[in-house]
Amino acid sequence: MTRTPIAALSAAAACTAFVASADPFGRRSPAFGEPLPGLTAEQVAALLARFDRVADPEDETDPESGKSDVDRFADFMRLLAPLPQARFSAPALAGARVFDSIKCTACHQPFYLTGPSRIGALWFKPVALFSDLLLHDMGTLGDGIAQGAARMREMRTAPLWGLRARTAFLHDGRATSVGDAIAAHDGEGAVSRERYLRLGETERKQPLEFLNTI
Ligand code: HEC
Repeated sequence: MTRTPIAALSAAAACTAFVASADPFGRRSPAFGEPLPGLTAEQVAALLARFDRVADPEDETDPESGKSDVDRFADFMRLLAPLPQARFSAPALAGARVFDSIKCTACHQPFYLTGPSRIGALWFKPVALFSDLLLHDMGTLGDGIAQGAARMREMRTAPLWGLRARTAFLHDGRATSVGDAIAAHDGEGAVSRERYLRLGETERKQPLEFLNTI
């Protein structure tokens, strides 16, 4: 169990390093694309002169490894191990069946196989992430942001592994419990949500126990 806080701490440190390496106007890292729209080149230059006191380039590529901080950060995220599953109690096993019978698995697909990878450890590995990695129209649960292929109400199915290490749920952290997160499902998730809410008191605890285990 000590792995969780340590992993979380190093992830937080890496995030801080990553954010610090990013230019506030999106001009340093190729990941950030264009500068803020609506500002002239002169305004951007004036703001940079005032606030950006560190000489460029801030994220230099290391000549030996050929990697920049962004590359190292990506490697770190890519190779983070998921939280291992806990031991399945009898209610958790019953919960797995309920989770399937009320069709949570329609989107939270239990297993996936990774594809080819230049990293051997990631080459065609089964992963129990509980997501189909697809976009779904989630109705009122949408974030109102159209981005890439996602329309305003469309969200990508959140993986459910490691849920027990978390305290805030959904894209904006609005749910403080797993039960609240389920109750907020809407749109394509509404039928499944209603099936969950119609479960009896004991039965409703079982999928929560299951989600606390994976
Ligand atoms: C139509 C697809 C769909 C179905 C069916 C569905 N979900 Fe989800 N679920 C999602 C999406 C999309 C999100 C991400 C929403 C967000 O980030 O706001 C999500 C998020 C969650 C979360 C929060 C995860 C997190 O990281 O914060 C939980 C818990 C969850 N679902 C459980 C369930 C359970 C239990 C069921 C069955 C009752 C279910 N879901 C059915 C699509 C679905």
